[in-house]
Amino acid sequence: MTDYLIAPSILSADFARLGEEVDNVLSAGADWVHFDVMDNHYVPNLTIGPMVCQALRNHGVTAPIDVHLMVEPVDELVPQFANAGATMISFHPEASRHVDRTLQLIKNEGCQAGLVLNPATPLSVLDWVIDKVDMVLLMSVNPGFGGQSFIEHVKQKISDTRAVIDASGRAIRLEVDGGVKANNIGELAALGADTFVAGSAIFNADDYAQVIRDMRANIAA
Ligand code: DX5
Ligand code: ZN
Repeated sequence: MTDYLIAPSILSADFARLGEEVDNVLSAGADWVHFDVMDNHYVPNLTIGPMVCQALRNHGVTAPIDVHLMVEPVDELVPQFANAGATMISFHPEASRHVDRTLQLIKNEGCQAGLVLNPATPLSVLDWVIDKVDMVLLMSVNPGFGGQSFIEHVKQKISDTRAVIDASGRAIRLEVDGGVKANNIGELAALGADTFVAGSAIFNADDYAQVIRDMRANIAA
């Protein structure tokens, strides 16, 4: 039985009340905190870094923190995020000169390692690193902003990635990020995704718990 996880993206949270927002979304039933790091270089937006991750830990957040690095270069930030309490660290292969080395670095720092595939990035980037990957994160929007529409061709990619993961025989999570809502999450789960990032769908709602309940109900349906 698949264990489905919901990872709200704090990109759409109220940053002026971040600790409270994270507490609220976790008590509303979220499993992970999805932490989007943007550098105005790899992506055209600028967000938060390791100090904010540490601040959430100091605030008392014990849930897994799923750090999504949209930065270039990557490696300098890996030990900083590991020290700041990241649970998993994912990066885009285009942003690292040595993908195998970066994956190894993340593992050596004691975190789980994820590789993020943009909508146009081929699955072949997984070919020689699948044994080092704990999670594949499929972007279903182009990275940089919350609130964009789900790109339809990523549905085929989810089922293709599911086949690659199953063939590997390893327990690799398949996470989808971008445009995930209560009304498409069931289909994404049926295609083989097991971990769902949702930013605007949760944080723009009045009742976080209701959205998360609807999402779980639609996954199960
Ligand atoms: C986009 C980020 C996403 C974003 C998702 O670059 O990686 O995590 O916050 O936002 P929604 O769920 O609103 O598409
Ligand atoms: Zn993200």
